[in-house]
Amino acid sequence: MSIIELLASFSLLAISIFFYLTKNNKSRASSKSDSNLPKSYPLIGSSVAIFGNRKRLIQWTSDLIRNSPSATVVLHRFLDDSRVVTGDPANVQHMLKTQFQNYEKGSKSRRALFDFLGNGIFNIDGDSWKFQRQLSSHEFSTKSLRKFVENVVDTELSQRLIPILSAAAANNAVLDFQDILQRFAFDNICKIAFGYDPAYLLPDLPEAEFAKTFDEAAKISSGRLISVFPYLWKIKSFLNIGSEKRLKEASSQLREFAKNIIKEKKQQISKNSSLESVDLLSRFLSSGHSDEDFVTDIVISFILAGRDTTSAALTWYFWLLSQKPRSGEGST
Ligand code: HEM
Repeated sequence: MSIIELLASFSLLAISIFFYLTKNNKSRASSKSDSNLPKSYPLIGSSVAIFGNRKRLIQWTSDLIRNSPSATVVLHRFLDDSRVVTGDPANVQHMLKTQFQNYEKGSKSRRALFDFLGNGIFNIDGDSWKFQRQLSSHEFSTKSLRKFVENVVDTELSQRLIPILSAAAANNAVLDFQDILQRFAFDNICKIAFGYDPAYLLPDLPEAEFAKTFDEAAKISSGRLISVFPYLWKIKSFLNIGSEKRLKEASSQLREFAKNIIKEKKQQISKNSSLESVDLLSRFLSSGHSDEDFVTDIVISFILAGRDTTSAALTWYFWLLSQKPRSGEGST
C-alpha cells in the first residue's frame, strides 16, 4: 500500500467518525454485510461490541469496512444513536462534496467538542464554517505563509530532529520514534499556528505543559464523542468530577495560554505590521480579526488539525519503510 493510499484510508476513517447518521440518511447504508456486523440488541444496539473494542476503535472499524461488500457499515449504539462508518470514496464524495449541506456536524458532536474547540472550524457549521474556511484557504494560498512553513519545518528538522536521530545512530540507542514524531509535529504546528515554540523535541524529551494539557483535552473530548453512554459524561460534567473536571481545567488553561499569546501578538503587530515571516495567528489578527475568542478557537482547531495527522502519517511512512528496507535496491 502506498503512502497516498494509506493517507486516503486514514482520511476516510477520520471523516467517517465525525459524521452521524441522520434518520433520513439511514437508507443509504448497506445492510448486505449483516454477517460481518457486531450483534445489535434492542435499546443498546451494538454497545457491547463497541465498548469491547473501544481501545482499538480505528483497527476494529477498519476491519468491519474491509469485510463489508459496500465498504460501509452502520453501527447502532445506545438508544438508536447510529453512525455510519465508510471507506467507500463515492460515499465520502457524497458527504463532503455533492451533498455537503446535508451533513452538518450536528448538535451532539458540537456539544461534545465545545469545551475544547469552541466555535473553531472543526466544530462549526453554516456561515461561520464557510467564513473560517475561506479565511484559512486564503492564508494557506499565500506565498509568504508557504515560505514561513518551509522555514519552520527546515529549522525543526536541521536543529532538532536530525541531530537527535544522528546521536541515536552514533550511540546505537533505541528511540520511541512515534513519540519523537509527535514532538516534531507539535513543535511545527505550534510555531505555524501561534508563532510559539513549545520546544517539545529536545534531546532530554521534556514534558511540555502546553503539549500535555492539549493532549489531555483532546483525549477527554474524543472520549466524549465515542462514549457508548453519552449521558455519563454529561452527568460527570454537571457534577464537575473526574475526567470532566480535568477537561474544564485543561480547556481553560489552553484558552488562557492562547489569550496571553494573542495579547503579545497584538502588541508586536502594532509595532511591526509586515506579514513576511509570520504565523497564522498574526495573519488573522492583522487582517482585522481581533476578537480573542474567535482567533483562539481557530488556532486551537489548527493545532489539533496539524498535530496527530502529520505525526501519524510520518509514523506510518517510516513503519512502511522499515517493512521493506531494501525494496528500492536494484531499481536505479
Ligand atoms: C497528513 C496530514 C493530514 C491529514 C491526513 C489531514 C486530513 C484531514 C481530513 C480528513 C480532514 C476533513 C476534511 C473535511 O472535513 O472536509 C481535514 C480537515 C482539515 N485539515 Fe487536515 N489533515 C492533515 C494535515 C493538516 C495540517 C498540517 C493542517 C493545518 C496546518 C490541516 C488543517 C485542516 C483544517 C483547517 C481542516 C478543516 C477543514 C474544514 O472543516 O473545512 N490539516 N484534514
